[in-house]
Amino acid sequence: MEKIKNFPPNFFWGGATAANQCEGGWNVDGKGVSISDIMTSGTHKDPRRITPNIDENAYYYPSHEAVDFYHRYKEDIALCAEMGFKMFRMSINWTRIFPNGNEEEPNEAGLEFYDNVFRELKKYNIEPLVTIYHNENPLALTFECNGWADRKCIDYYLNFCKVLFTRYKDQVKYWIPFNEINCLTTKLGNWNHAGILHKGTEFFTSQVDEPNMRFAALHHQFVASARAVLLGKEINPNFQFGTMICHITVYPLTCNPDDVILTQEEDLMRNCFSGDVQVKGIYPYYIKTYFKKNNIHFEITEEDLKVIKDGVVDFYSFSYYMSNCITANKDATQVSGNIMGGAKNPYLDATEWDWQIDPKGLRYTLNHVYDRYGIPIMVTENGLGARDTLTSDNQIHDDYRIDYIKKHIEQMQLAIDDGVDLIGYTPWATIDLVSVSTGEMEKRYGFIYVDKNNQGEGSLDRYRKDSFHWYKEVIRSNGENL
Ligand code: BG6
Repeated sequence: MEKIKNFPPNFFWGGATAANQCEGGWNVDGKGVSISDIMTSGTHKDPRRITPNIDENAYYYPSHEAVDFYHRYKEDIALCAEMGFKMFRMSINWTRIFPNGNEEEPNEAGLEFYDNVFRELKKYNIEPLVTIYHNENPLALTFECNGWADRKCIDYYLNFCKVLFTRYKDQVKYWIPFNEINCLTTKLGNWNHAGILHKGTEFFTSQVDEPNMRFAALHHQFVASARAVLLGKEINPNFQFGTMICHITVYPLTCNPDDVILTQEEDLMRNCFSGDVQVKGIYPYYIKTYFKKNNIHFEITEEDLKVIKDGVVDFYSFSYYMSNCITANKDATQVSGNIMGGAKNPYLDATEWDWQIDPKGLRYTLNHVYDRYGIPIMVTENGLGARDTLTSDNQIHDDYRIDYIKKHIEQMQLAIDDGVDLIGYTPWATIDLVSVSTGEMEKRYGFIYVDKNNQGEGSLDRYRKDSFHWYKEVIRSNGENL
């Protein structure tokens, strides 16, 4: 059948980053320690450690220097402009602005850094998309109140938001209050997503869990997000806010109704619950039942529910890397994934890190989400983590990455043709940066190669990969030349 719709003319082509994974400069110009700064490097098999006391003699901490965007942002943004970016997704590291999270007055040097970044983006007409919280909780709040387990984090966060909204009201229009907020529906969300650290947690992959506390933390973030939306719109009514969901699309492994029911339950909990709260402004029926059946109790006030109802978001955004299968069969082969794993799909290949590659699942997901919410959508993360080789003449032939992104763009185009209101695509990642799950540099995602290895060695020089040139043409042709 002939296509009737293509990428709209003002489509936001771009790329994504997060402060803790690219900035470095972890202790300069008044910055405080964030939760990502105490995570060591690891590998797929050897998990990252969480070390409440930093010991640089014993461990390597990849966020401390990362790829030094803090000092090289001009060069990096110029490269984005060369690719033709229309949008640049970034986060603001909370600890640059409030080193301990609980101060009343912000750190001016931190604010100036982001002034400069926005000025540079503006120079090239690149629209910033700012994530307010991307695994950057101030460590001091973990010691003070176990992070988001405590309701007072809402006020600390709102104070942070107020400073950002006031300072950048003419520079930034698009905001994401929390990255992948739904990760708090699993125990791996405790640390990165809420700064909750229980006694006995040593490794990122083996976090001690208290579901009551974890769901309370998620609730506090829902309230904080809604209050941020309300506050932001008072400061600038043109602000646009989005949810950001770690969307791990699920299929039943078989057509056995037991698999189908389990898949539905998993989809509601993983993917739908947080979106329903942030987009529809309600606590959905299935989660209330889940809380009752699983004895989950925490405080939800009438005022909280009113705020959640009023402070809904304007657009839906999500990360999409993979899909997984769900089955009642306990013997099914499992695969890992981005926070949440599942059963192996016999029809899909997987990356070296065991993330299943499923471009058609993106079209399915876009339709699923648009049907549920009916608001504009952005795919704010999608990409391939792979090892790259820098040749002796400084080339990186990453045809595997081109193949991955091309197939996903094709499916986005089909979803647009299906009628989905897709307005932007910011793949992960603009530039090579530190992997969250493993702390590696060599699990690379960027269009721009950074000369740095897993041990932290390298010149930090930047090189254009083959995918850089390819993506430039994709943007130039508005998705026509894949
Ligand atoms: C997303 C995160 O979950 O996945 C990013 O928002 C992260 O911060 C990305 O980097 C890829 O995951 P990883 O573990 O390969 O870095």
